[in-house]
Amino acid sequence: MSKRDDASILPANPPHGEPKLGYLPVADIPHKPRVTDTDPKAARRAERQVAGMFILSMLLVVLFVVAFVTIDVTTVIYVPVLGEVGASNLALGLTFGGAVFLIGAGAIQWAKKLMPDVEVVQERHNMTSPKDDTEEAAATYERGKEESGFARYPIIRRTLIGALALFPIPLIVMLRDLWQTPAGANPVEILSSTSWRDGERIVPDIGHNTGENVPGIRPEEIPVGGLVSALPMSIKDLKDDVVANMRDRGKSAIILVRMDPEEIRSQQGEGWDYQGILAYSKICTHVGCPIALYEHRTHHLLCPCHQSTFDLADSGDVIFGPAARRMPQLPIRVDGEGYLVAASDFEEPVGPSFWERG
Ligand code: FES
Repeated sequence: MSKRDDASILPANPPHGEPKLGYLPVADIPHKPRVTDTDPKAARRAERQVAGMFILSMLLVVLFVVAFVTIDVTTVIYVPVLGEVGASNLALGLTFGGAVFLIGAGAIQWAKKLMPDVEVVQERHNMTSPKDDTEEAAATYERGKEESGFARYPIIRRTLIGALALFPIPLIVMLRDLWQTPAGANPVEILSSTSWRDGERIVPDIGHNTGENVPGIRPEEIPVGGLVSALPMSIKDLKDDVVANMRDRGKSAIILVRMDPEEIRSQQGEGWDYQGILAYSKICTHVGCPIALYEHRTHHLLCPCHQSTFDLADSGDVIFGPAARRMPQLPIRVDGEGYLVAASDFEEPVGPSFWERG
């Protein structure tokens, strides 16, 4: 019996006799039986294809867990087109993405090749549900269950259940990262120290990692109202260690802004500016977006992610938005050659708030 014949079991008129209710086969769309409707071998082949995708999905979930446990997060590999990437991220992305894709692809294949493809139209009706309707809905559900083949194709049913059962495992495994940090360090230790120290030369964050020889920034290079994104000079020593380089950049990135010293209302430490040049962390204290939107007349620094706004003329205090803490300020001075340098590390952890912060 073709799927078109199946349509004959649909009621021509709704059971409770209301003319506009119910659903009817669409008479003017010619139905073309699929190969799987007429050829049992093709149907078996499609069944095996679908089950194969679900099995492959299960396999990829297992590989995800293996990759998570065995691949060192600091391992970097070269991939054509992408360049240098973290091996762990790549493996986790490919395995988890593949597992999700295969469940979706298997479900689509199942629907397209094995489920009934009778064209029906359901007309609108009022929103109340008479008893007849609820009974009809229950009957339709039972019929749909039967027609979908959920009971008829035990291999598909079992492999789908297996794939969906394993599917949450990557999420649970990844939750570990919420309470574990590399090398057992806690967030306080990680975010409390950066590469800044007394005498560390401040260099512009442009082409620095490409090996250019940038000697530093002189105060006269920053005009009043100007902003410069900057990094510690020592970061170029990490040029060949991609992971350490990125971590260090994430913590040590700063902005330098210059204003009339008369306009500075307060700072986080006595004399932490140099002739009106102030250095602040570039990492938002809300959830860590880098910030460089500076309005020089008001001295407001605006985070583009959730619009937290900080007043750089008043200790970097939060004046708007969800950030709970001011932007940490870096004390600066000039060295013997006239270049801007840090006077110490930050005195408070940089970056977003976290539970252990005092
Ligand atoms: S990350 Fe800056 S406001 Fe949310």
